[in-house]
Amino acid sequence: MNWNSLLQRAHTPYSKKPVACVVEGDRGDFFAGVRIENVSFPLTISAVQAACCICLSYQQKPIRILYKDEAPDQLEFWQKEFNCTAEKSENIDQLTFVKYQSEIPSDKKEQLVKLLDDAVIPNSDFPVSAILADKNGIYCFTGINVEVSDWAMGLCAERVALAKAIVHGVSDFANISVHTKKGEFSSPCGACRQVMHEHLPLSKVEMFHADATYSEHFVIDLLPFSFTSKNLQGQ
Ligand code: THU
Repeated sequence: MNWNSLLQRAHTPYSKKPVACVVEGDRGDFFAGVRIENVSFPLTISAVQAACCICLSYQQKPIRILYKDEAPDQLEFWQKEFNCTAEKSENIDQLTFVKYQSEIPSDKKEQLVKLLDDAVIPNSDFPVSAILADKNGIYCFTGINVEVSDWAMGLCAERVALAKAIVHGVSDFANISVHTKKGEFSSPCGACRQVMHEHLPLSKVEMFHADATYSEHFVIDLLPFSFTSKNLQGQ
């Protein structure tokens, strides 16, 4: 992996300014992150937020943030949050990156239940898990919710899974499954519906509810009359 190939994976159709970074976890693994913009700008995931939340989802604490040229958005927040260092790095070719992709489990429900144990939920104690399956139905990206001191800086399980996929360069999806054992329904929040609508509008959300019932719904049906405008760049 080098900076250019990582930068190409950023989803920045609105600003046209790709951003990428790399976070080192406290067990010595490296986690890549890219900026993932949304048609509703405030829902944009910064590159550092993506990399730090993914690192935390693997139960590692960020200790160092690497970037190419300019300091990326939110760098200060995340540096302070984990008391980690940040530095420019010309070359990331030699680093060993964690592979975010795994095989789709034969029993999704069982995997979703297991994943709940990985949720990073110091504020809510409300674990959520997600499995995002690629178009070919072979590989997937798992997600759990990640919370930090600023509630608005964490990411929902669905967005952690999606961020991993985008960083990995996968952008065609079959479906996304979600589960939480504490909610009455395992149903994605409005922000996740908006973000999923940007990347997989025609795919299904498979909801494994806490009472062991199941329902599935198209993303597009979960966000009727959604926000868009031809006047936004990239539309
Ligand atoms: N959460 C998700 O992970 N996905 C959703 O769709 C709804 C909310 C998480 C975010 C936060 O960590 C906790 O649930 C309570 O809001």
